[in-house]
Amino acid sequence: MSKITVPVIKEKKIKGEKLSVITAYDFSFARLAEQAGIDIVLVGDSLGMVIQGEKDTTSVTMENMLYHSLSVSKGLKNAHLVTDMPFMSYQISPEQALENAGILVKKGKAESVKLEGGTERFNSIKKIVSAGIPVMGHIGLTPQSVHKFGGFKVQGKSEKDKKYLIESAISIEEAGAYALVLESIPWETAKIISEKITIPTIGIGAGKFCDGQVLVIYDLLGMDNRFTPKFLKKYANLNDIVTNSIKEYISEVKNGVFPGIDNSFE
Ligand code: KIV
Repeated sequence: MSKITVPVIKEKKIKGEKLSVITAYDFSFARLAEQAGIDIVLVGDSLGMVIQGEKDTTSVTMENMLYHSLSVSKGLKNAHLVTDMPFMSYQISPEQALENAGILVKKGKAESVKLEGGTERFNSIKKIVSAGIPVMGHIGLTPQSVHKFGGFKVQGKSEKDKKYLIESAISIEEAGAYALVLESIPWETAKIISEKITIPTIGIGAGKFCDGQVLVIYDLLGMDNRFTPKFLKKYANLNDIVTNSIKEYISEVKNGVFPGIDNSFE
């Protein structure tokens, strides 16, 4: 596999090739995703929830993103590395957005940055892109606005919201973004958007007509059996595999089975 660059990502839509995207937060999982042949690894601010145990992503800092982005970068070779801009690192002004995007590239080794929001992000995206930093947009259920939405709810159900999503997608492409995440929106709207814009759409809970799909790595690996949203398909059951492995280890330690002679030095 050769290096997945921004031009390669855009080209895949033209060729009708779907994009595979997964989140990762550390070197070990990044290495496995790379080994499996993933196209794009996203260091998502979902780390606030799956790594830090917070209820939402609003407390994630630039320092958190830099730490995890740098760790992930060491596990990647060909996959593209995109890092999330955390809450309040870009909302204040286009200048603030550019400054923090630059820090994520310089210190976090990000190859592009992702930020949330629609038409209102036009100037910030344009500013970041004009400095040579590629931007991935993110509309629909944008988790940093959880308090505005009143929870993690499907977006774009009313005609007004649908219109806003379509206008936002067009505006984000015009601002110069290279790809766009569509999160938790009806598949019909995701299909319209994917057909209307020329940059790839990456869906999560947005149906099969997107140009690619993204999932949180721990979700697709089935790490938490309490988390069962409709959009998710679990490809493993690490919740049980990990718990049972640790149970077996505990039992073997308590019963003097581990370490055996094979695990001991003469
Ligand atoms: O933070 C994240 O993991 C994300 C994806 C779910 C798109 O933004």
